[in-house]
Amino acid sequence: KNITLSVIKADIGGFVGHSSVHPGLLEKARGMLSGHPLLIDAHVTHVGDDLNLIMTHEGGRNNGEVHQLAWDVFQACTEVAKKMKLYGAGQDLLSDAFSGNIKGMGPGVAEMQFEERASEPVVIFMADKTEPGAWNLPLYKIFADPFNTAGLVIDPKMHNGFNFEVRDLIKNRKVVFSCPEDLYDMLVFIGAPGRYCIKRVFHRDTGDICAASSTQRLNLMAGRYIGKDDPVLIVRCQSGFPAVGEVLEPFAHPHLVSGWMRGSHSGPLMPVGLEQCNPTRFDGPPRVVALGFQLADGKLHGPQDFFADPSYDRARETANAVAEYMRSMGPFEPHRLHLDEMEYTTLPEVSKKLKERFIDLRK
Ligand code: 13P
Ligand code: 13P
Ligand code: MG
Ligand code: MG
Ligand code: MG
Ligand code: MG
Repeated sequence: KNITLSVIKADIGGFVGHSSVHPGLLEKARGMLSGHPLLIDAHVTHVGDDLNLIMTHEGGRNNGEVHQLAWDVFQACTEVAKKMKLYGAGQDLLSDAFSGNIKGMGPGVAEMQFEERASEPVVIFMADKTEPGAWNLPLYKIFADPFNTAGLVIDPKMHNGFNFEVRDLIKNRKVVFSCPEDLYDMLVFIGAPGRYCIKRVFHRDTGDICAASSTQRLNLMAGRYIGKDDPVLIVRCQSGFPAVGEVLEPFAHPHLVSGWMRGSHSGPLMPVGLEQCNPTRFDGPPRVVALGFQLADGKLHGPQDFFADPSYDRARETANAVAEYMRSMGPFEPHRLHLDEMEYTTLPEVSKKLKERFIDLRK
């Protein structure tokens, strides 16, 4: 069966502050999606203050009706959020008029279309207080690093490697790298995750889609501060793709990502179960949840809340230690992001105020 898996998310109001989603919004979204004729199945969840709609259907990617449905859910939830005066109600909805495609309007979208295999395990990653480039390092490890993914070495169905589609979010262009050959060239770009993001990964032998991320850059789209575009990622697993455990493995070492407080700080990405997914300390540290599903004719059997497992306890300890260390730097870079990367800044105003006190030394 040809299935489309669409994960569409938006921050449409935080409870309390930017920490979580009010149960009333989850209830509203579930009510609107459950049994909907456009969908085969749906699962509604949240990570931090971001509401995630996980949907299966047969309409293909960028399907106008499915995107309209997601938009309507976010609009209706915004109404609920406004009544409760939740924080930043409607934060990620940039336009009032929907015109057929949700991309470019604020919500984040990760979608893939595929022939469902005899067994179709997928992992859906959802993060809060960070940006799409946060997936670059783990995607590199999953699909290109033999020290992470044993299958790259010992599975004949994976040995030829994977193609990576990388987007340049500033110049709005894309390039495909064939790995392992193009590894070093690719790392020149994806090592700068604020600008270059891995959008999709394909199996080299079969051309099958393996992974798809959301790369909408909210802060650039809006032209003003409206928070970081907290990202989602879909990864298919097993039988020629990395095993579930290989897909989860990179998150055992929390890497530094951009986001955290006011979208303007660098901090460790902490893997957590759903019970612990509400960023708290300094509005963080940034969180990632991994939900596993087995698809059966498009039905979502799950979720398995992978990072709730004790084998990720050590990663959380490391993330807390790194968070402690980074916080000690307060407003200094590199804990506070470089001026170009901050979501908002007082620099122009302060510069203006102090204009008379700056003495030009070139004269
Ligand atoms: P089982 O023997 O438990 O099925 O595990 C197989 C495997 O490949 C695990 O990575
Ligand atoms: P969100 O992008 O999750 O809304 O966070 C914004 C923020 O300013 C957190 O301090
Ligand atoms: Mg928010
Ligand atoms: Mg958020
Ligand atoms: Mg956000
Ligand atoms: Mg088994």
